[in-house]
Amino acid sequence: MKVLIVGSGGREHAIAASVAKSPLVDKIYCAPGNAGIGMIAECVPVGAMEFEKITAFAKEKKIDLTIVGMDDPLVGGLVDEMEKEGLRVFGPRKNAAVLEGSKAFSKDLMKKYGIPTAGYETFDSASEAFRYLETADFPIVLKADGLALGKGVLICQSLEEAREGVETIMLKHQFGDAGNRLVIEEFLTGREVSVLSFVDGKTIKTMTSAQDHKRAGDGDTGLNTGGMGTFSPSPFYTKEVDDFCKKYIYQATVDAMAAEGREFKGIIFFGLMLTEKGPRVLEYNARFGDPEAQVVLPRMKNDIVEVAMACIDGRLNEIDLQFEDNAAVCVVLASEGYPVKYEKGFVIEGLDRFEGQDSYFCFHAGTKRTESGIVTNGGRVLGVTAKGKDLKEARANAYAAADWVTFENKYMRHDIGKAIDEL
Ligand code: AMP
Ligand code: GLY
Repeated sequence: MKVLIVGSGGREHAIAASVAKSPLVDKIYCAPGNAGIGMIAECVPVGAMEFEKITAFAKEKKIDLTIVGMDDPLVGGLVDEMEKEGLRVFGPRKNAAVLEGSKAFSKDLMKKYGIPTAGYETFDSASEAFRYLETADFPIVLKADGLALGKGVLICQSLEEAREGVETIMLKHQFGDAGNRLVIEEFLTGREVSVLSFVDGKTIKTMTSAQDHKRAGDGDTGLNTGGMGTFSPSPFYTKEVDDFCKKYIYQATVDAMAAEGREFKGIIFFGLMLTEKGPRVLEYNARFGDPEAQVVLPRMKNDIVEVAMACIDGRLNEIDLQFEDNAAVCVVLASEGYPVKYEKGFVIEGLDRFEGQDSYFCFHAGTKRTESGIVTNGGRVLGVTAKGKDLKEARANAYAAADWVTFENKYMRHDIGKAIDEL
């Protein structure tokens, strides 16, 4: 089989590494890919939003399966465009990817079908939002409706902050059209857990749990980022939590989408908050998480290609999804100054240490191949993942491996997975 992966980050590298293990696959392409993906796949210089070019490429090369890793092309309808040409694609169609593409849609869906989430109101005008805030409790959460690179959520401690937030999102349009509508949401407290799942329209199979560290600095300080590291499984995702989510959240979401005529095939990522009153859905994503995929996929025993094909064909019920009984930790190596301002173009040394390893992985996010070697090319540069028999061992291994790699302005958090030591 020939497989095409759409995207260029650590998530797509982790997907490509899983696909490369499949005995069904002869050739992998990635559009546009990066230097690390280029070691196991042929990178094609086509952007993830160039739908016509991607479709033409897939037809010309007779691609058997396309896996769309990123949110933008899914929400924009790449799957629909490719399916029109008879291509097989893993990922939700546009009318289902709206589960991630519009927070107002997902909140309304949860309300209509009784899926537990934070209380909220939706606003189309700033003046209505200002008025609502006058009598609200604080802290409160503001969410731009559309995709905003994970940055469209503001937690506001006071009325003043919230008013500024509404201005930023709705009047100054900091997140563009994503901020034309606003969701104002009750502030929840608790532990956050990510659960990713495969969905075939009817059946859902959840993967092992994971947890992300979103803030830039140690001790969860500093700005929000795309994610500075992850660990899997989450010790807080207990059987009791799983039972609750199975009963009230997972299948309920898939059934709700089907009932709305928006059959969902692909990955649903449940961002959960474990509150005192029980688990609540914070958000849905319509794709693998990044860097969650970098700790979840290396632990998956199944052939990802077989599972993806089963989702497309509506026979996921035949798959026995299994994960290794171990743990994994991913430490993101970033450029100093990320997520605000950083330099790039520095040569990366030590990548060869990962060759031939089966418990250590170096997933590339922002890298580029040049004449002087592989250089840094983004805020998040690499995701160093290691497995271990438990989280403690995985964490020690991941930090040891993080030191194998060097580049100027290398920055990482030193407490990824540290919460597990509190147990
Ligand atoms: P989202 O993009 O919806 O996942 O939001 C980004 C982050 O904001 C989440 O990972 C949480 O840390 C935080 N967040 C979102 N919604 C809430 C909420 N209702 N209460 C508290 N924190 C939230
Ligand atoms: N790591 C969070 C996300 O992929 O949305």
